[in-house]
Amino acid sequence: MSVEFCGLALRHPVINGSGTFDAIAARRAFGEDLAASFPFSAYVSKTITLQPRDGNPPPRLWEASGGLINSIGLPNKGLEVYLREDLPQLADLLGLAADGAAPGAVPLITNVMGASAEQIAELLGACDARPEIAAIELNVSCPNVKTGLDIGADPRQLAEVLRAVRGRTSKPLIVKLTPNTADVGACALAAQEAGADAVSLINTLRATALSPDGRSRPRRPWLGGGTGGLSGPAIRAVALAQVEAVAARVAIPVVGMGGVQNARHAQDLIDVGATLVAVGTETFRDPGVGARIAHELQEIMVGR
Ligand SMILES: Cc1cc2nc3c(=O)[nH]c(=O)nc-3n(C[C@H](O)[C@H](O)[C@H](O)COP(=O)(O)O)c2cc1C
Repeated sequence: MSVEFCGLALRHPVINGSGTFDAIAARRAFGEDLAASFPFSAYVSKTITLQPRDGNPPPRLWEASGGLINSIGLPNKGLEVYLREDLPQLADLLGLAADGAAPGAVPLITNVMGASAEQIAELLGACDARPEIAAIELNVSCPNVKTGLDIGADPRQLAEVLRAVRGRTSKPLIVKLTPNTADVGACALAAQEAGADAVSLINTLRATALSPDGRSRPRRPWLGGGTGGLSGPAIRAVALAQVEAVAARVAIPVVGMGGVQNARHAQDLIDVGATLVAVGTETFRDPGVGARIAHELQEIMVGR
């Protein structure tokens, strides 16, 4: 079951989706056992930005049929506090030594997002200096302050930004693509050509919900942020199609995610070309789901 991914030796191919499993909070809730039997083979942090963000006003969630629309708005403490306060706690609970050495430990992937090449360069440079961080995932579902267009939505813009920042880190760089684009395969190829070591997808699909009070005029959006992102089983078929399209275009490893609830869903993504599978929304129902899926995957592979 062990997998080599961007130079990291992982125990199995199941990791968490960024923003859906807070390891520090999980340790508070589930105790030290969490560290001893961590459910994922690598841990992806939620998105960290240069400055702290409060996130969107409530309501932040809408339960859709077979899924969830979230408008959390990427609240986080900002880069400085993440590095000072969260990183040592994460290193401790994942079993990482101070120099980042990780025999038997769970490698840490830090997810970052910036609104310009300058911001992203600063985030990558700061992460590069920290040995506890094994790899960086760059969330490109962020409007560019200059163009207003999501950085990852246009292959040319994505390549331009990546070329400008790639030199700021020698750590593996995973580009988390946006699914809200016309040609995700072209974006993945642009990322590869601009120096990405891997791509991950899919992020949430842009979605909205109207206030349940159908009589009010004009109808109001329910979510405080106006729109949100759809995740969970409702997006699984879209994820499979996009992962297949991307894997057919690039030679670098692909991390597939979107609606995975069990090993068969994970196996589908692997069969269309994913090297790793990430689980997001399902962890809200079962925080130990990563370990369960890894175990079930092994049974499927033995039976093949
Ligand atoms: C509540 C919530 C918060 C999320 N936060 C982030 C985030 O901080 N950064 C990011 O790159 N993706 C974020 N995502 C997207 C997930 O990592 C994942 O790409 C997406 O939810 C699809 O997987 P799933 O259907 O298994 O949830 C978030 C998703 C949810 C539901």
